[in-house]
Amino acid sequence: MKKQNTILAFVVLTVLFGQMACTPTDLSKASIIPKPVSIVPTGDSFDLTDQTDIYVQGESAELLGIGQYLADKLNPSTGLGIEVKTTSEAPASGNIYLSLSENDAELGDEGYELTITDSSVKLTANKPAGLFYGVQTIRQLLPSKVELATSQKGSWKMATGTIRDYPEYGYRGSMLDVARHFFEVEEVKTLIDQLATYKMNRFHLHLSDDQGWRIEIKSWPNLTTHGGSTEVGGGPGGFYTQEQYSDIVKYAQERFITIIPEIDMPGHTNAALASYPELNKNGKATELYTGIEVGFSSLDTHKELTYKFIDDVIRELAALTPGEYIHIGGDESHATKIEDYIPFINRVQDIVEAHGKKVLGWDEIALATLKPNTIVQYWALAENAVKGVKQGAKVLMSPAKNAYLDMQYDSVSTFGLHWAAYIEVDKGYNWDPANLVPEIKRENIVGIEAPLWSETVSNRFEAEYLIFPRLLGYAEIGWTPVELRNWDEYKVRLANHGERMEAMNISFYPSKLVDWNVKDKK
Ligand code: ACM
Repeated sequence: MKKQNTILAFVVLTVLFGQMACTPTDLSKASIIPKPVSIVPTGDSFDLTDQTDIYVQGESAELLGIGQYLADKLNPSTGLGIEVKTTSEAPASGNIYLSLSENDAELGDEGYELTITDSSVKLTANKPAGLFYGVQTIRQLLPSKVELATSQKGSWKMATGTIRDYPEYGYRGSMLDVARHFFEVEEVKTLIDQLATYKMNRFHLHLSDDQGWRIEIKSWPNLTTHGGSTEVGGGPGGFYTQEQYSDIVKYAQERFITIIPEIDMPGHTNAALASYPELNKNGKATELYTGIEVGFSSLDTHKELTYKFIDDVIRELAALTPGEYIHIGGDESHATKIEDYIPFINRVQDIVEAHGKKVLGWDEIALATLKPNTIVQYWALAENAVKGVKQGAKVLMSPAKNAYLDMQYDSVSTFGLHWAAYIEVDKGYNWDPANLVPEIKRENIVGIEAPLWSETVSNRFEAEYLIFPRLLGYAEIGWTPVELRNWDEYKVRLANHGERMEAMNISFYPSKLVDWNVKDKK
């Protein structure tokens, strides 16, 4: 009898301690990435139950969409059957409430305030984008298993308190090179979902290069039928029809992400030159190219047909682009004389403007005369970016040594290159865009973009090895004020995202610098 009591007491205590250990009550200890601007904990917890529903204020389709997005994230794993309902006032206790209140200047267009008590979750923002980012925070406050696609046992509790949060930079993005290797629509959508999870809002698609042309242009069909027919290593390549591309753009828009399409020129154009003999100086088509050298191709800047071609391409692309910007590349045009390059970039800026869009380009474009709204993407030469600043242009920060996702982590990395640097996870995190180049100050910078060039990766999982976990760091650099960022504190939050990334089926690189909290220690 005595022994039985002891066993019973042991079982009761084990269950109690287990529950205490699993019940989050300190909101300040939550592993949120990017780190919020302010967290005030209140020391209790909210329990998501089968009585919980999501209420959105008013009848707005956009708010209903955000509520449904959250329900779709929560229902498969929790099995709680959370429904989305509209309401004109705050719902009864036990529910989640999403509402707009247009008068909180500090939160801006993308900020949110999340107030969690033991009986309610209230999310408010000035704009729908803020609610969407607050929803990402809610996901991260729940146990990692919430991200699994199948029904999970267990409780679904969140610590209580108030989070007020808004981004440091307006442009927080990544880039995928779909030209060196083609990526299927579903792979692109998966990456868009991942960017949204970390509150990124721009996705740059590098749609053409020497090895492939990936976007259907109806007035120049050979660009894709021939120029899209291969890729690095000689694989079958591929391209997006305009309908598929529009589907990607819409999918991104629903996640508050603007697609920035890039047509690289005048260099990086072999796929176009191989598709149309008349674009070449000698009237002969080049061969398709499946290697990884750069800098050997150029459009003929003296041919009038070149500008007709560009005008057609930009016209069709602009019609598919709700975003303000079209990226014209402009990098590594080693086969174009500088005296040809400058008037070419000037003329292409006019073409983009004529189709109602603004220009983004790699830092070399600052050698030309920039239009007032042109943005210079700093990747290689600070002196180029500074030339842009001196012309009044804003800078997008993608320094290859700090922010290129295709750089290897170290000399034994499975994928990637290292011509700019090895970028371990700490090095990718530990820098400040506004404190890298003395002449490029905070007020000159629109934000940060981490590009993935795809010479060495050909599918989603290979790409993820390079993208993750570094993307989380770039998301935090873009969102969180530099004073709140610190590697030693970040790496603990990142460790806790190991299990979350696993649950999202992300094949991340398990850097030895991080003591990963994962199911199967790698
Ligand atoms: C670049 O990496 N060539 C922009």
